[in-house]
Amino acid sequence: MKLLEERILAEGKAVSEEILKVDSFINHQVDPVLMQQIGEAFAAHFKDRGITKVVTIESSGIAPAQMTALALGVPLVIFKKQPSRVLNDNLRQTVVTSFTKGTSYELTLAQDFLTEEDHVLIIDDFLANGEAATGCIRLLRLSHATVAGVGVLIEKSFQPGREKLTEQGHEVYALARIGRLEKDRIEFLPADDAH
Ligand code: G4P
Repeated sequence: MKLLEERILAEGKAVSEEILKVDSFINHQVDPVLMQQIGEAFAAHFKDRGITKVVTIESSGIAPAQMTALALGVPLVIFKKQPSRVLNDNLRQTVVTSFTKGTSYELTLAQDFLTEEDHVLIIDDFLANGEAATGCIRLLRLSHATVAGVGVLIEKSFQPGREKLTEQGHEVYALARIGRLEKDRIEFLPADDAH
């Protein structure tokens, strides 16, 4: 997505060879107009797939996932990372380990919100090692729901996330694909919507 790539070049900062900072428009301050365009781009690609729900993990995936759900006309389900006092019955859970952050959390879903009738699109901001998306897929399986695909804003193609997911037969649709990060230099590969 040209708009997203331009924004990454204008405002993104490679803080190391692995980490891209996009705090000014995606993860901390959020540009709602860009999120709407992103939601429409995902919806245009996945519109004829019989998707019944969009899923994301709190917190940075929520803004683009909400816009995608709106454009597709389906509900958004947010998988939780924090234990909640009100969320304690009939839960499905799986542990996800983030290599980037060196932390683990128990990804949690109240079982009422996904059933075997659901065909689900997973949306997230970054695809790095694929652990978050793989955790989502485990919870979808526990709910007997099916996976329509994984849509990400930014794929770091030098990390193994895409490979892991495609090996399992899941489609990855990335609006920006970063082939290489160096301090003050960001190189893109052709994005999935460029074809
Ligand atoms: P994976 O899910 O693909 O395996 O990635 P990994 O566990 O390595 O990292 C997951 C967390 O790190 C996610 O945030 C993801 O957004 C963030 N992340 C990964 N690479 C980058 C990067 O280059 N830049 C930035 N800014 N973040 C990155 P999270 O823990 O789910 O937190 P949240 O932001 O959604 O609350």
